[in-house]
Amino acid sequence: MKKYVISGGKPLYGEVSLSGGKNAVVGIIPATVLVKGVCIIENVPNINDVRELYEIMEKMGADISYIDEKTLRVDCTNVVSYVADYDAVRRLRASYYLIGALLGRFRHARVGLPGGCSFVERPIDYHIKGFEALGAKVSIEHGIVIADAEKLEGASMNLDFPSVGATVNIMLAAVLADGLTVIENAGKEPHIVDIANFLNAMGAQIKGAGTDVIKIRGVSELHGGRYEIIPDQIEAGTFMAAAAAAGGRVTIRNVIPKHLESISAKIEASGATVEEFDDYIIVSRDENTPIKKVNVKTLPYPGFPTDMQSQMAALLCRAQGTSIITETIFSYRFQYVDELRRMGANLTVDGNVCIVEGVEKLTGAAVKAEDLRAGISLVIAALVAEGITEISEVRFIERGYENLVDKLLSLGANVKVVDDEAEPTVSEAKIS
Ligand code: EPU
Repeated sequence: MKKYVISGGKPLYGEVSLSGGKNAVVGIIPATVLVKGVCIIENVPNINDVRELYEIMEKMGADISYIDEKTLRVDCTNVVSYVADYDAVRRLRASYYLIGALLGRFRHARVGLPGGCSFVERPIDYHIKGFEALGAKVSIEHGIVIADAEKLEGASMNLDFPSVGATVNIMLAAVLADGLTVIENAGKEPHIVDIANFLNAMGAQIKGAGTDVIKIRGVSELHGGRYEIIPDQIEAGTFMAAAAAAGGRVTIRNVIPKHLESISAKIEASGATVEEFDDYIIVSRDENTPIKKVNVKTLPYPGFPTDMQSQMAALLCRAQGTSIITETIFSYRFQYVDELRRMGANLTVDGNVCIVEGVEKLTGAAVKAEDLRAGISLVIAALVAEGITEISEVRFIERGYENLVDKLLSLGANVKVVDDEAEPTVSEAKIS
C-alpha cells in the first residue's frame, strides 16, 4: 500500500503552480455528455477522480484522449447508453453529475447512487426535486437512480440550501430542456461558475452563475469547443495553510485571488502574511512569529469553504490559545481529529464544533488518511511535526491533489512515497 513518509520541521521555500480545479473538472467532464461534437478541455488535473470518470464514460461510448499532458479531447457524439457502470460510479461523488447530463441528453438516466468521501451521509434529494420540477420521474431501485422524462420543460425552483451538487446537476438537466429554468438560492462557488462557463462556451444559455439566481434558457443542442478550467481554489488554500503552518515563504502561481478572499483573511489572522498579485500570491511566516488562534466557521461561497476546514485545523494545532472551528455545511467532517491526536494535537469535537487547544509541538506518528481533506490535514501536520510521520491510505489524498509530492519537494519538504508492496517509488527526498 502506498504511503507518504514525511520528516517534518522544515520551513517551506519556493513556488508552486496550481492545477485545474477538481470540483470544476468533475462537473465539466460529465457535462460533455450533453455535447455532440469535440470538446477540448485545457488545464485538466491528473487526479484519481478524473481517471474514474474517464472509465465510466468510456464504457458508455465516449471517445476520450489526451492532446498533451493537461489537454483533454472528449467526443461524446457516439454515446448511446444512458446507463452508467454501477461499480465505477460508486467510487466517486461526482458521478452524480451523470444523472443530470444523461437525463438532459437522452431524457433517461440509470446511474448508481454516488460514492466518494463518506465523512457524513450525503443525500441527493435536492437534485431529485430539481429533476422532478423539470418533468422527470425519478426513483431509486436497488441502489440505482432511475430518471425518465417524456420531455423536460423549464421550471422555477428554490433550493432549500445552496447545494453545489444540486445547482450543477439541475443546470446540466436544464440546458437542453424546453424554455426557461430559474434556480433560486443557487450555489455560488467558483466551480459552479466554471461549469456554467464551459456549457456556455459549447452553446448553452446560462445567466447569473455566481449569483443567487441562475437562469437557463434551453437550447436545442450544444456544439463542440475549447475551454480552460480554472485553477483549484482549495489546492491554493492548502498550500497557503501549509506555508503558514511550516513557516517560510511560498509563491503560489496561477491563482484567482478573488476566489481566495475568505481563506486569505483567516491565514492572515493566524499571523502569516499574504501578498496578493494579479495571478499569484505569496504566503510567508517567519518561523519565530507565533501562530495565533483563529475562529473559523464554514459557509457556502463566498464564506469560508468546508473543503479548507481540516487544513485550518492542522495549522491551528500549534497556535497560541484556543481556536473554535464550526462546520455548518456538513453535520460532521472531523475525520482527521483522532489522527491529529496521535501526533500530539489537542482537539475536542462537540457536535459540529471542533475545539483546537494549541500545543507547543506535534510529533510524527503513523496515521491514516480517512478521506481527501482529512488526509491533506495530516500532510500539513506532518510538515511541522518533529520526527517522521507515515501517512497511509494516500489514495484518498490523490483523488484531489495532482503531483502533491513533487510540489512539496519543490518547496524543500522532506517527503517520499513508499509502496509496502513494491520498491520505493518517488524518492528524490532525503529523509534524515
Ligand atoms: N444536501 C442535501 N441534499 C442534497 C444535496 C445536498 O441535504 O440533495 C446537503 C448536504 O448533505 C450538505 C449540504 O447540503 O449538508 C451541502 O452539500 P453540497 O450539495 O453543496 O455538497 P456536494 O455537492 O455533495 C460538493 C463538493 C464537495 C464540497 C461541497 C461543499 C463536488 C464533487 N463535491 O459536494 O467537495 O465539500 O460541495 O462545497 O463538487 C471535496 O472536494 O473534498 C468535497 C467533498
